[in-house]
Amino acid sequence: MSTNKEAWGSRVGLVLAMAGNAVGLGNFLRFPVQAIKNGGGSFIIPYLVCFLLMGIPLLFVEWSMGRFGGKHGHHSTPFILDSMDKRKFWKYLGVFGIFTNIAVAAYYCYLESWTLSYAYHSVAGTFAGMTQEGVNDFFTNYVSLGTSQPIVFWLICLVLNTWILSRGLSGGVEIVAKIGMPLLIFFGVFLAIKGVTLTAGEQGAVNDGTVGLNFLWTPNFDTIWEPKVWLAAAGQIFFTLSVGMGSIHCYASYLKSKDDVALNAMSAGWMNEFVEVVLGAAIVIPISVGYLGIAKVTELVQNGGLGLGFRSLPFLFQNWGPTLAAVAGFMWFGLLFFAGITSSLAMGTPVMGFLQDEFHWKREKAAWTFGLIILLLGAPAVFFFNEGVFDEYDYWAGEVALVVFAVTEIILFSWVFGMDKGWKEINAGADIKVPTFFRFIIKYITPFILLVVLLGAMPGILEKIANPKNSAVMIARFGLLALYVGICYVVFLAYKKRVREGRFH
Ligand code: ALA
Repeated sequence: MSTNKEAWGSRVGLVLAMAGNAVGLGNFLRFPVQAIKNGGGSFIIPYLVCFLLMGIPLLFVEWSMGRFGGKHGHHSTPFILDSMDKRKFWKYLGVFGIFTNIAVAAYYCYLESWTLSYAYHSVAGTFAGMTQEGVNDFFTNYVSLGTSQPIVFWLICLVLNTWILSRGLSGGVEIVAKIGMPLLIFFGVFLAIKGVTLTAGEQGAVNDGTVGLNFLWTPNFDTIWEPKVWLAAAGQIFFTLSVGMGSIHCYASYLKSKDDVALNAMSAGWMNEFVEVVLGAAIVIPISVGYLGIAKVTELVQNGGLGLGFRSLPFLFQNWGPTLAAVAGFMWFGLLFFAGITSSLAMGTPVMGFLQDEFHWKREKAAWTFGLIILLLGAPAVFFFNEGVFDEYDYWAGEVALVVFAVTEIILFSWVFGMDKGWKEINAGADIKVPTFFRFIIKYITPFILLVVLLGAMPGILEKIANPKNSAVMIARFGLLALYVGICYVVFLAYKKRVREGRFH
């Protein structure tokens, strides 16, 4: 039996932690950029379709799989999947639910540390009086490790994450979510109001804030049937909801067997959508379009969300005067930091749950082990950022692995475990009536869409495999592969240990 005695302290803490898991840097940096790159208003239609037919069903599935595993003493996907069917190979596919979290955390924590550093620099007045070029150079110098600061902030961030994790769910993760989420929403609402109410001709703005919003949301139906738009929309849904990762399973596995999953899953999922579609859309784009105009923003978007969020906003905030610029910078990077940390904490819990369940490790030891792994795996993303290692991790772990694992889990849940049992799991203890058509969607539509997404992504994946950018990227790929194989081996050892001890499901 597992000696893992972790538990959630309260329902509100659980929902905020789950929402915090979902609400992340993806909501504020990735979403607006994906939307603009993929046709603005025409992106939102595939995006909402993917949310309804893939995101919501996967939330129901992952929450109920997690609670089901937890009943049997499993808190990570290898043995959660194992407990759902007697065939032995599932646990090795369940390895994705540990692998992805580790690999994403490895680069995500670094990005998170930039937000901490930029929040500090905003308050310290570093950007005050800097030209656009100066802010741009600051960023280029930062990621090129021109000073030791990025490393210092990265280490601070790693230690902070690890320390919070070592305090457990109710004593660490839940407290951060209860403080971080309301603050994030408060900062977000403030900045969104500032963004949307920008007035052309005032404080240096060339456009009203609404011009940016219109630019984002005006439909361009020319692109709506392009597969790449659908792939981007599906990818954003995965990343933003943190589905296909394994972290939701882990958090849900600490529920009690009679706790609701249906309403909780919807509360956390819709909270994420509010933060993404409403707040995520109303900050970066209206402010940058307000000051730079559409043509320039379109150009900057090609460099990804980091270009706008880090290279432009600290400069643009200065139009609001020194005090407000410092406050806005602190709020912007502060909200990114809270968004980031509540997500990275969730990435730490699956590997900890696994070590606690299988090897009876103490929580502290498990947490510091996770911290050490992230340090080792993250170092190449930090030191070879300009060579593309960071992006390589993001592609394989933050995009491809999510889809592969989602396909695996939906087939297991709907077709192997079976929809009769699955539907019962979703509805057990439910505080809402889940519409019956979701039964059909989960069994047929979601697996179908996921397979289409996977097949649609195949040409891109093969092209990527055939054309590694440089040797640093090749080494990073082997590192990720070695990580996956290494986790499989540890799962194998855990399985042998179970057999020796006569512990099965
Ligand atoms: N769901 C997290 C995000 O959006 C990973 O950043």
